[in-house]
Amino acid sequence: MKKWCLGALMMATAAVNAKAADIALPSPNTAGGGALMEVIGARRSQRNFDAKRNLSEQDLADLLWATWGISSDKGLRVVPTARNLQNIDLYVLRADGVYLYEAKGNTLKQLTNRDLRSLMLKGQQFAFDAPVHLLFVTDDARFGDFHAGSMYQNAGLFCADRGLSCVVRAMYDADELKKEMGLIGENKVVMSMAIGYPAK
Ligand SMILES: Cc1cc2nc3c(=O)[nH]c(=O)nc-3n(C[C@H](O)[C@H](O)[C@H](O)COP(=O)(O)O)c2cc1C
Repeated sequence: MKKWCLGALMMATAAVNAKAADIALPSPNTAGGGALMEVIGARRSQRNFDAKRNLSEQDLADLLWATWGISSDKGLRVVPTARNLQNIDLYVLRADGVYLYEAKGNTLKQLTNRDLRSLMLKGQQFAFDAPVHLLFVTDDARFGDFHAGSMYQNAGLFCADRGLSCVVRAMYDADELKKEMGLIGENKVVMSMAIGYPAK
């Protein structure tokens, strides 16, 4: 399949319209960070979140870049994908809606302004306190899980480096999310990650 065609398909996982509520992110700060071996050793799942504190736009921009940003002038990403398909989308779910991360424009495109956090719980009430849920969406039954895994590992290392709480989560209502997000075809949320500042 031609590259331009793949690009068009990527953007077709949901019916996204540009709206005033889209968010132009600040440029990601890609410098610095801790020593690699120490950051790897510090990564941990944490389930306590400061519910009153939203992630700052800078932390969010940096997190998204570390998870699914573009890191070369050829358009290659921070994580590898099979045959460089890049056929996975990263969504951000917050109290003020759900957004698609567009790495090229460093923008969050609003999909809906509805609060879908209740679909992220499945009995794990602590997840409601997380100001941000990353949703990994793909229709690739063969490689999608691998791609999501690379992405959540990057995100987990980023959180360890910045002192954020995060936990990978499979406990969410995938069918309802698919419906509410208007995901088309075989696209679904294959994994999620709850992220926020740790509760004091
Ligand atoms: C694919 C996957 C799914 C997970 N799903 C959940 C989940 O739904 N809820 C949760 O609290 N933790 C979940 N976890 C986190 C694991 O419980 C955690 O990684 C494990 O206990 C080891 O702890 P560590 O990440 O601090 O090393 C998941 C982890 C992975 C890799």
